[in-house]
Amino acid sequence: MPETSTPSLMTVILAAGKGTRMNSSRPKVLQELRGKPLTHYTLDLARSMSSDRILMVLGHQADQVRTDVETAFAGIEYVVQEPQRGTGHALLQCLAQLEGFDGHVLVLSGDVPALTTKTLQNLIRAQTTNSATVTVLTSCPPDPTGYGRMIRDAEGKIIAIREQKDLNPGEDSIGEVNMGVYLFDASFLIRELPLLSNKNTQGEYYLTDLVQAAAAGGLTVSALTLETSDEAMGINTLIELSAMEKSMRDNILRKLMEGGVRIVDPSATYVDDSVRIEADVVLHPMTFLYGTTTIGSGTVIHPGAVITNSVIGRDVEIFPHSVIEDSQILEKTVIGPFARLRPGNSVGPKGKIGNFVEVKNSRLGEGSKVSHLTYIGDSELGKGVNVGAGSVTCNYDGFSKHRTVLEDGVFVGSGTMMVAPVTLGSNSIVGAGSTITQDVPPDSLALGRARQEVKEGWARRWREKIAGKGKS
Ligand code: UD1
Ligand code: CA
Repeated sequence: MPETSTPSLMTVILAAGKGTRMNSSRPKVLQELRGKPLTHYTLDLARSMSSDRILMVLGHQADQVRTDVETAFAGIEYVVQEPQRGTGHALLQCLAQLEGFDGHVLVLSGDVPALTTKTLQNLIRAQTTNSATVTVLTSCPPDPTGYGRMIRDAEGKIIAIREQKDLNPGEDSIGEVNMGVYLFDASFLIRELPLLSNKNTQGEYYLTDLVQAAAAGGLTVSALTLETSDEAMGINTLIELSAMEKSMRDNILRKLMEGGVRIVDPSATYVDDSVRIEADVVLHPMTFLYGTTTIGSGTVIHPGAVITNSVIGRDVEIFPHSVIEDSQILEKTVIGPFARLRPGNSVGPKGKIGNFVEVKNSRLGEGSKVSHLTYIGDSELGKGVNVGAGSVTCNYDGFSKHRTVLEDGVFVGSGTMMVAPVTLGSNSIVGAGSTITQDVPPDSLALGRARQEVKEGWARRWREKIAGKGKS
């Protein structure tokens, strides 16, 4: 058989721990970072490494974690660690899966979300270049407290990893720490995992003791040392979760600003990394841009906008507190303030959706305006349509939804109820306060309301009558 250049890879994600330091009833690995559970970051990363197999060790709230992961990722193998006796004990639960495997085993934690594929590729390269049995990802964070320290001998060879609680006097000054990411030779793991002991301060089986076992057996332990620890930071507390979120957000916003996007207050602007924004867009504070949203040049987003999976064209203005979802806003259109666009709309170009207007699953053509206090649902508006204040498309009859069609140039007077299905022909006019239940031909006037009656003097007489009663 021809020799393959790289041995095959198995990835194990440790995610059984309780996450005690979170003080939360939600499992740590399901805590959300920028709207996505922590462990999804690790799973995405594992996927990017083209592993032959991905194993996930679950324990604390295993069912809940598994249910969540299964909805987002297929083909993951689950191993249950019960009870949880430490990271070494967690890996030991994978022994049956490791049996007969002859490649590299990549060990990741479910709580290290910012790690990159590039770093893991470098880890594999270091292992191969150094003919190592174990390669550990290390770094020198500003504060090493809490991490396992890398213990090296006089020649600089790694001989052990010592946990914070087991440090000997003087060892707490060691700055190089274990980031909890490892590459192991599978046959070494199969041999050594069952030999781990729990004779340490925490009474746990430490995965890190495998490093000492390798070094003591004369095997090579190598390290890949990161220049900055940021990407390998583990999340143990809700404070660290927020800090990670902030640093990820800062990176996204910095790139946008470098690309010519004006962000008035980066500390109050929230943009997913999947969002694309052209130069000369202005984002005011409290802008939230999510998902696959794209924004064209010259557009201004005023405070309080929440825009999800939408295409916003050029020179659009989104006024404060508008919520837009799965919609397309074409150029030179004005939205809000206080507009709500539910999924499935296309508005513009040069359109207007004004204050307190809700639009759903509707298409509004060029220059059409719906300016105040209106509901437009399941509708088709042509060009130059104007819908007056307080109008409603009555699209739902209690059973199904029906369409309303307003052809080019239609003018709908204020306070009109359009009972769907109904079509208003081009350039027709509807009198204010009408209830329209029948189609209106082009160029006609439709009135659908009771004729006004005036009873002169009635109000005065009524007041006098009431006042008279009060005196008696
Ligand atoms: C671990 C390392 C430490 C390193 C640090 C980096 C050990 C003994 N220590 O410490 O050297 O500096 O990571 O962040 O490994 N887990 C299980 N089963 C268990 C215990 C933990 O699956 O019984 C999982 C956790 O869910 C977590 C990961 O292993 O995803 C790490 O566990 P954690 O308790 O966070 O280890 P640290 O104390 O951070
Ligand atoms: Ca940790």
